[in-house]
Amino acid sequence: MKHHSSTQSVPAVSAVPRHVAIIMDGNGRWATKRFLPRVAGHGKGVEAVRAIVEACAERGIEYLTLFAFSSENWRRPQDEVSLLMRLFMTALEREIGRMHTNGIRLRVIGDLSRFDQKLQDMIARGEKLTAGNQRLTLSICANYGGRWDVMQAVGKLVREHPGVADFSEEALAPHLAMAYAPEPDLFIRTGGEQRISNFLLWQLAYSELYFTETYWPDFNAAALDEAIASYRQRERRFGRTSAQLAQPGEIS
Ligand code: IPE
Ligand code: IPE
Ligand code: MG
Repeated sequence: MKHHSSTQSVPAVSAVPRHVAIIMDGNGRWATKRFLPRVAGHGKGVEAVRAIVEACAERGIEYLTLFAFSSENWRRPQDEVSLLMRLFMTALEREIGRMHTNGIRLRVIGDLSRFDQKLQDMIARGEKLTAGNQRLTLSICANYGGRWDVMQAVGKLVREHPGVADFSEEALAPHLAMAYAPEPDLFIRTGGEQRISNFLLWQLAYSELYFTETYWPDFNAAALDEAIASYRQRERRFGRTSAQLAQPGEIS
């Protein structure tokens, strides 16, 4: 299915966001506040993921994209990085069956070549098993960076058309890592920081941004509903004026 680009044409707007993208931040601070090691926060964060995946599916959200590990997170202390990798492995191992039963299609997005072969194999198996599911598409961004995504897409485009110098947005879009999904309607960042941290740079062009102080391990269905309620109040103009929105028949 081809999805419309928010800069090329005005997308349809629905009351429930079709695509929600989340930077799950604040695991470490959640733990530190409780005098626990940071990794305890990451463990708790996995539980929050399970609940939010189900809550999104129940609300009719079609695509949920979660930032799990950024291309810059390798800069963390090595023991935290290895613990995160192990946690990712065990969570996948444990959850994939449940996801499949619940109609979740899993995609893992990012430069996976830097991961252990075992982890890469498990990801491939999980994606294959769940490929036909249609209730919700869950994309986990791992070793993902927005700039990496744009650059790998440019690379593919240029290799596909040797000698061509001018490219359109439409030509690039199919090569982006999440070409299978519409652009996010709603972006959420937990943990209080108000920045993008190299998440989906291209795809967030017209997303509604929502920031909450809540740490990710505390983010639950009620918190998700607050974010959706805020989203519903927004006027998504995509460059037009309010008056134009009031008369949708008059413009294209
Ligand atoms: C987000 O929580 C999880 C990952 C980046 C893997 P953090 O680990 O960044 O938690 P804080 O921001 O230090 O509290
Ligand atoms: C962003 O969180 C990445 C993930 C949630 C995976 P960070 O905690 O790494 O972001 P910065 O470094 O504070 O911007
Ligand atoms: Mg953080």
